[in-house]
Amino acid sequence: MSNETVVVSHPLVQHKLSLMRDKELSTAQFRRLLAEIGPLMLYEATRDLALTTREIETPLARMQAPVLAGKKLCFVPILRAGLGLVDSMLDLVPSARVGHIGLYRDPVTLAAVEYYLKLPDDIAARQVILLDPMLATGHSAVAAIARLKQRGATAIKFICLVAAPPGIATIHEAHPEVPIYAAAVDAELNDHGYIVPGLGDAGDRLFGTK
Ligand code: URA
Repeated sequence: MSNETVVVSHPLVQHKLSLMRDKELSTAQFRRLLAEIGPLMLYEATRDLALTTREIETPLARMQAPVLAGKKLCFVPILRAGLGLVDSMLDLVPSARVGHIGLYRDPVTLAAVEYYLKLPDDIAARQVILLDPMLATGHSAVAAIARLKQRGATAIKFICLVAAPPGIATIHEAHPEVPIYAAAVDAELNDHGYIVPGLGDAGDRLFGTK
C-alpha cells in the first residue's frame, strides 16, 4: 500500500501523549512516558509481520506453534529524540538491531544536515523501523529514509508520536511506500517549524537541555 498513515487511537497511547504535551511535566516523567508509549506504537507497526509455524512440545502435547518468519527488525532512531523510544522497544523485541542516524535541522533553512550514520551491515534483509517522536516539516525523515535506501534498505516504516500535515505530505511524496505510524496529527507548524499544539522540542524535553 502507498501513502499510508496510521493514527494509533488506542486509549493508552492517547492518554500518555496528552500527559507528555503538558509543559509542566518533568524531564523524568517525559522520558518515562516516551519509553512507555514506544512499545505500544511498535505493537501497531508490527501487526503485519509474517508468521510461520514451528513444531514444539508443550508439557502436554506436540503442536504447530506460530513464530515470526521473514525479516528481522532494525530500529533506527533519528538522533537525538528518537533515542527515547529505543530501549523500551528493545524490551519488546530484544533481538532487533539498532542503527543510528544523526541529523540536525538548520535553524534558518530547516533543512536536514547529516552528522552521523551507523547501520548494521545486513540492513537490506531487515524490516527497518525509523524513529522520531516528531514529524514536523518531514525534511529529517525524508533525508533519513533516502540514506537508508542508499544503504540497501527496502522495507521501512516510520514511527512518530506527533505528526504535522506538511511532514506527512512530504514523506508520502518522496517515499510513498513508507507507512507512517503516529499517535496524533496536529494542526500546523509555526514559523520556526515547531508543531502546534505539539509538545515542544522533544529532544530538549527528553534530555532536559532547556
Ligand atoms: N522537533 C521537535 O522536537 N518538536 C517540534 O515541534 C518539531 C520538531
